[in-house]
Amino acid sequence: MSQEQTPLFSGLVAHAKRNPIQFHIPGHKKGAGMDTEFRQFIGDNALSIDLINIGPLDDLHQPKGIIKQAQDLAAEAFGADRTFFSVQGTSGAIIAMIMAVCGPDDKIIVPRNVHKSIMSAIVFSGAIPVFIHPEIDKELGISHGITTDSVEKALKQHPDAKAILVINPTYFGISADLKKIVEIAHSYHVPVLVDEAHGVHIHFHDQLPLSAMQAGADMAATSVHKLGGSMTQSSILNVREGLVSAQHVQTILSMLTTTSTSYLLLASLDVARKQLATKGKQLIDRTIKLSQSMRKRINEIDHIHCVGKEILGSKATFDYDPTKLIISVKDLGLTGYEVEKWLREKYNIEVELSDLYNILCIVSLGDTETEADILVNALNNLSIECEHRVGQIEPIEVLLPEIPVLALTPRDAFYSETEVVPFEESEGRIIAEFVMVYPPGIPIFIPGEIITKENLHYIRKNLEAGLPVQGPEDDEIKTIRVIKEYKAIQ
Ligand SMILES: Cc1ncc(COP(=O)(O)O)c(C=O)c1O
Repeated sequence: MSQEQTPLFSGLVAHAKRNPIQFHIPGHKKGAGMDTEFRQFIGDNALSIDLINIGPLDDLHQPKGIIKQAQDLAAEAFGADRTFFSVQGTSGAIIAMIMAVCGPDDKIIVPRNVHKSIMSAIVFSGAIPVFIHPEIDKELGISHGITTDSVEKALKQHPDAKAILVINPTYFGISADLKKIVEIAHSYHVPVLVDEAHGVHIHFHDQLPLSAMQAGADMAATSVHKLGGSMTQSSILNVREGLVSAQHVQTILSMLTTTSTSYLLLASLDVARKQLATKGKQLIDRTIKLSQSMRKRINEIDHIHCVGKEILGSKATFDYDPTKLIISVKDLGLTGYEVEKWLREKYNIEVELSDLYNILCIVSLGDTETEADILVNALNNLSIECEHRVGQIEPIEVLLPEIPVLALTPRDAFYSETEVVPFEESEGRIIAEFVMVYPPGIPIFIPGEIITKENLHYIRKNLEAGLPVQGPEDDEIKTIRVIKEYKAIQ
């Protein structure tokens, strides 16, 4: 088959055109049994291929027909031995990837600034995390990836680890020397798993960082839906056979996946793969040029800085993806969140994320000069609006969460007897739940860690700034669930 073909999407369309009489789920039956307003909005075409795993349409759990053909074409496009489609986002692919190599009490080496799905997988599998400190960027207030030195050190101390996990590139588009990390890990026969949520496009352009499969990694959970043109929630898991068994990965994925897989999502993966494989280079070329010109124009605006290649050169900043615009706004005396709200209210612009000091804007295959001009113009006006007070701004102290000490494995903490205590009185206790700001969804605390004064302060600052702190059962974060302590009876 050629990369121009879309066996899954074309198969679904051909099936819908035959217009079979459906005595199977979904019960909306091509939309006929659905709320009219929604049906008219979504359109009959979409509903006609919202189908299920009947004989002619193959089954994601045991693919032999059009889903297998689509997955095989994706494997060829991504340079993998096997590619599995996920309808449960990259989170689903990540959990399967980790559970395919780790069981109870197995060690896994992970950077501490991982997405919550990785911590969930660690709780589910009962694996023991060996944390690596990511490199911290004190100027921007963000964490980067891990260094080759720290990987070497971690593997020397834990050569029995079952896997090492690397985030590549990070949410902010920074990548590590992945090829070297793979070489080091493989010299210990340890497989490298890559969280490639923010890097589906990098495989298709040689001016972007090396992709997981290009660097020789063993597995990669890759968000096609984030930057590759498929529908939200669709993702892939790429596998290189050798240190991991693709058959076992299929078994675990199947255990974790709904039996009612969305064919709309699956078909969107098929067409996104075709577009990336056949036109990706040219589309990404345009995207890189657009983002570079935006970066240059933003950097001409007073008091606003858009990070560029000057960030490279440290051990953790080996390469970067220029299509991510990290825009530092702290010199305006505003938080990233205030700028996010200002852009929404004044210009109807929605950014990817904001934090205390930055906003992150992603430029993708879907952007043009028109959107670029609106953003640059808005930032220019923001700078003018803030000009009168810039001289009076106190230099902002950049805060970053400390990495707390882990007292219990995340699984033991999660399943321990717990109690609820006031947030303000929780210092020194062992936390039993996650606390994070989403996006980016990197935990400030994971179950099992000792609560520190510094991190309580960091959470308070994020709450004060209005940022979305999530995780605890108490969504106002007035209380926190901690491991129960028993006091001596007096
Ligand atoms: C670094 C990272 N990994 C994994 C994920 C999970 O991806 P998904 O939302 O597709 O489940 C995200 C989502 O934001 C992420 O930022």
